[in-house]
Amino acid sequence: MTRSVETMNQTGRRSPLDDLSTPFLYVDLDRMSSNIAAMAAAARDLGVRLRPHAKTHKVPEIARLQIAAGATGVTVSKVSEAEVFADAGIDDLFVAYQVVAPAQRERLVRLARKSQLWCAVDSREGAEFLSSGAVVAGIRLQLMLEIDLGIGRTGVRAGVAARELAQRITDLPGLELVGVYGFRGFRAFAEGAESRERWGRAEGEALVAAADDLRACGLPIAEVSAGSTPTALPAGSVRGVTEIRPGQYLFGCANIVAQGAMRADDVALFARATVISRPADDRAVVDAGSKTLSTDGPWQPGRGFGYLASDPATRVVSLWEEHGVLGLGEMSRGLRVGDRVSIVPNHVCTAINLHNRLVGVHDDRVEEVWKVAARGRIE
Ligand SMILES: Cc1ncc(COP(=O)(O)O)c(C=O)c1O
Repeated sequence: MTRSVETMNQTGRRSPLDDLSTPFLYVDLDRMSSNIAAMAAAARDLGVRLRPHAKTHKVPEIARLQIAAGATGVTVSKVSEAEVFADAGIDDLFVAYQVVAPAQRERLVRLARKSQLWCAVDSREGAEFLSSGAVVAGIRLQLMLEIDLGIGRTGVRAGVAARELAQRITDLPGLELVGVYGFRGFRAFAEGAESRERWGRAEGEALVAAADDLRACGLPIAEVSAGSTPTALPAGSVRGVTEIRPGQYLFGCANIVAQGAMRADDVALFARATVISRPADDRAVVDAGSKTLSTDGPWQPGRGFGYLASDPATRVVSLWEEHGVLGLGEMSRGLRVGDRVSIVPNHVCTAINLHNRLVGVHDDRVEEVWKVAARGRIE
């Protein structure tokens, strides 16, 4: 187990973190490094490329660490996010999002001129729109066809609909169909790790089957991109999957731990907060509310909005904008006004999107202060 900052603070030593005003987010650099290395090694062992979803951290310096450890490039959601990473010299990008507006298409085309770039597509209209942009610009856009994996979000159904759309893409000028991808996450987490393994494999199998179906019609499908933090390894173990796209794996969060996808001891990102009120024996209020932790709920009902790193029985039971209410477990009843605590948020991506910077801590010292450069890049 990597020694955590939170553990060190419990020895009673004053931490340099205590000189910073709360609330803020900090990263345990040792844990982050070992999470980055472990996923890169696992991808290598499986023989798949790793393309982490950078919407989790939104920090080009961290993307470079992922690439130095073996990642091919990064996945992003929005074109504006892709621009931040491209400007920082990261030139292998997958915009795993449908681009259907002229302004975004213009920016996408500009990026495609200077980077290795894939873009998602799941509709005829979207493909025709991208085709006309590519033709006017005199380039070829590389597209990944999104397959619907049944979570009620985007994607085209495998079978007839996918075949028709893939055929249309290959017929259109300015486009190159390079592969298929899908996103499923892990909804059945309450059933435990064994079921997560099955769930992840089923994701990989569904995408490989969709790719094979298209190949059988003579359509050129080279890439099969799968996976999220809970499903990346089982999906990546399916023969035919070429890359995995986990995002949260480098930090983890309360939901990822609840899914059994990471151990609590490997969580690497925390919100540092101060107890501002002790209104009742079983309740403390901290200065980290929805503007610090985000309002993303628990995937398992009743588990609140995060937990205390030093005492997982103590949960954030309710949130106001600037107030987080802790329902205190036995271990934390001694908390006093002015004490500092570290909280594991429910969803690390949305929490980071609320912050201008991440503080990186190693050996109880602040070693990095990263700007969250792709924060708020939603267009
Ligand atoms: C298309 C896509 N790929 C990969 C991921 C990464 O999943 P996770 O954040 O669970 O690692 C996401 C997350 O939302 C996603 O939307």
